[in-house]
Formats: sequence, structure tokens, C-alpha cells
Amino acid sequence: MSVAGQNADIGSTLAFDRGAPGRRAVAVPRWEGETAALPPANLLREGVRLPEMSQGEIVRYYTALSTRNFGVDSGPYLLGSCTMKYNPKVDDLIATMPSFAMAHPLAPDEEIQGTLGVLYDLQRCLAEITGLPAVSLAPAAGAQGELAGVLMIKKALEARGDLAQRRRILVPDSAHGTNPATAAMAGFEVTEIPSGPDGDVDFAALEAALGDDVAAFMITLPNTLGLWERDIERIIEKVHAAGALAYGDGANLNAIVGRMRHGDLGFDVVHLNLHKTFSTPHGGGGPGAGPVCATPALAPYLPAPIVTRDEDGTYAFARAEDSVGRLQQFAGSVGVLLRAYAYIRTVGIDGLVQTSGNAVLNANYLRNLMHDYYDLPYDRPVMHEVVFAGTRQKREDNVRTYDIAKGLIDRGFHPPTVYFPLIVEEALMIEPTETESREAVEAFAAAMIDIAQTAKSDPDSLHNAPRTSPIGRLDETAAARRPVLRWQPKA
Ligand SMILES: Cc1ncc(COP(=O)(O)O)c(C=O)c1O
Repeated sequence: MSVAGQNADIGSTLAFDRGAPGRRAVAVPRWEGETAALPPANLLREGVRLPEMSQGEIVRYYTALSTRNFGVDSGPYLLGSCTMKYNPKVDDLIATMPSFAMAHPLAPDEEIQGTLGVLYDLQRCLAEITGLPAVSLAPAAGAQGELAGVLMIKKALEARGDLAQRRRILVPDSAHGTNPATAAMAGFEVTEIPSGPDGDVDFAALEAALGDDVAAFMITLPNTLGLWERDIERIIEKVHAAGALAYGDGANLNAIVGRMRHGDLGFDVVHLNLHKTFSTPHGGGGPGAGPVCATPALAPYLPAPIVTRDEDGTYAFARAEDSVGRLQQFAGSVGVLLRAYAYIRTVGIDGLVQTSGNAVLNANYLRNLMHDYYDLPYDRPVMHEVVFAGTRQKREDNVRTYDIAKGLIDRGFHPPTVYFPLIVEEALMIEPTETESREAVEAFAAAMIDIAQTAKSDPDSLHNAPRTSPIGRLDETAAARRPVLRWQPKA
């Protein structure tokens, strides 16, 4: 039987179903020494069912599995809100250098001066990029950065004796979902501010909601519609005049990096998603890093640890004087931080400016190419991503956004984010990112146009898509309601 033949049923069988009793990947010699060196008898178990495969079978099995995945290294991955761009391999190389990667997380500061020096310099780079000088690299995800930032605001309000009275955080309905979730988790009441028909915050609604019970205004900028909030400076002035603080969700930084700084706009605190903007893919579900950058007034509350530099040039982990504390173990996702640092240093400021330029250019080019084929609820120039709606196809052809996404798989593309943001019906949220070439953007648009035409001529082919992938259309309702999460022996 060929290797492909042996692995043809890979989707329906697991390692447990393969091999044969007694088969082993390595031959470990029997222990002939002192029995005292063996694990205690009460910890030994008989009859534990483990896969029994030869080394070759295992390698072929996992190699076959790996080719069934789709990643940024396989092709365009225009997953809106995730910035799934191609990341330079040199950044991985630097982050996995043994001198960084093999350092023990509890190593004393004097033994990891090189790593600390890099982290200190990264803090300075992010301070410069955001215009907010107080930086902590500790949060391990965007949502954790948000929590850190909101807890810092809480401490600041407490310090000025205002916390008991200021219990609300205002969040526009175009915010990323983690924003209201974070505000609620930090113990605040969330007031949703509607967007106007043009996608900007409804200024009158914001004014009406502001008052001396408001702790903060929390905005995703650019927002989840891919739009720039044109009134942002006026909004922040109003927020400050009402005695509240301004929180910026800076996860969509690739739209503005090198051109616009949150600090210059008046924000008090912002978090970044290094795993979107700076060389670690987000959508793959791997580790992240969500540093917080703040004004000097909020510096005492930064999450621990921060990295400091003495006058003699020695680096150390430290804790801000009234820190919100640790959010997780050790120093954060240092591998992701190192990738970000390598990326920032290799592309330089000119490269960062080019990054945001290309991200915005690609999104607007795609917007123009697809414009006549899909509904565009907020029809104005976008920043790094564009949100179309499959409403026309649903109404005219009985084809849903879900079918469109599946049809894209048959055309060689990873589907975009669908049904998010929630304020767009049948949403198709597409982020081409700065690293897709003109040809790739055109090929994606051609696939989407082909799908719009197929919706008219042969809608069933979309209802039954995908046909070309190893696994076809899944019964997602059954998967959600009756999940099978445990291996069962074959009858
Ligand atoms: C705008 C925005 N804010 C916050 C987050 C949350 O980040 P994380 O998934 O790392 O918690 C994301 C994630 O995609 C995002 O796009």
C-alpha cells in the first residue's frame, strides 16, 4: 500500500487506531540495575492503552496530518481582525537562538542581561511608536493587555478618590468584542455607544452618555469596520473634560504604524497586539503578547514585571510602585517579544511606514475590485480591512455568507472572518494585510467575483462546498451540540 494509501483515512482514524500490539518506535533496553531506582509500584499502571506504532508509521502519520493544514506559509489568509500576514523567517531564527530560548524563566537578572537589554529596548521602541512612554510587556494577549489597562485606570481613579462614583465605561458598538468583556470583567458597567450611518461614533449619543459617573471611554481604533474614527481628537477632549480617561485598543496598529501615535491623539493608555502587527501570526491560536503603553501619570500602575536600566547600564526586572500586579507567570511571552523586536529593528521606521501604507492600499484596492459584486454597508475608504456583507447573495440567490466562505476554500483561499462584526448582517471581514502582493489581492477578488457569479448560476455548488478539501462541509450544529471529544475504540 502507498503512503498516501496508508494515510487515506487520516481524517477518521487516530494514532490509537493504527499500528499493532507490541509495535514500538524505539527499543529501550530493559532496566537491569537497582529496583530502588524504578518508580514506586503504586505509581505503575497496567493496561494503559497507548498507540503502538513504529517510528516510520508515526513520522508518516504526522507528516500526512501536517499537509492538511492551511497556514500563512501555504497561501493568502485574509482573516479580518487577525492580521495573518507573512512573517519573515529571520524573526523566528532570532527568537529561537539558544541564548534566548534556553534561558531559564527564573534565571537571575545578572545572567540574562542580553535578553533584558532587548526587552528594555523593545519597551522604548513601543513607547516611541505609540507616543506613550510608560510601557509593560507583561500581558500575554490583547485581551490581557486590555485588562491591564482598565485595571490601571481603576487604580488611577481610586488614587484620586473617584472610583466609587465612576462605575461606567463607554464602548462603541464597533469595538472588538473583548473591549466590553474586559470592562465588565474589571467590574465596570458597560454603556454601548451606537455608530452613525457612516460608521463613526454617534457623537451626540456619546455626549449624552458622558457624565461624572463615567470612568473611561474605550475605543478600537481603527474600529472593527476597518474605519478611522474621524472625530477622535474631539471625542477624547470631551472624555477628558468629563473627568474620564481614554483607552485605546491599538490591536489594529498595522493600519497606522509609523504615521499616527495614540499618545499624540490624547489617549491615556493603549494596548498593542504584537502577535498581529509585529511578526507573529494571530489566527493560528499560538502565544501572543499584548503590551500596554501609557502616559507618565499611569506609570505607577503598570503590570509586573517591567524592565529597568540602572545608570551603570545594568538591566533588571522591576515592579512599578503601585502595580496592578502580575497577570501571568514569569516575564510574558518572551519569544513573541523577541520576534517583534527583530521585526521592528530589521524593517526600521521606513519599513513601518511602508507597512501601514501597504496595508491600507491593499484593503482599499480589494474594496474597489469587489465593490460592484457585494454589498458594502459602510461605503467609504477603509484602513487595514474592509467589511462587505453577503446580504445581496442571501436575498437574491439563497446563498449565505457561510456558503461564500466555504466556496473560497475550493478556490484555494482561507476564508475571511464571517459574521463579525455583529453590527453588519452577513458580514465578510477581509484583511489582505501589507504582505499580499498585488497579484494575490487580484486573485482573491477574482475568486470572490467568481463566487458571486456562481451564486446566480449554480448556488448548490456553494451550498455543498467545500469539495476539494480533505474534509467537506461539517455539521457544525451537531459538532456544537453533540461534540465527540474522546477517542472510542472501533467496534
Ligand atoms: C481589535 C482587537 N482587539 C483585541 C483583540 C484581542 O486580542 P487577543 O485575541 O490577543 O486577546 C483582537 C484580536 O484579534 C483585536 O483584533
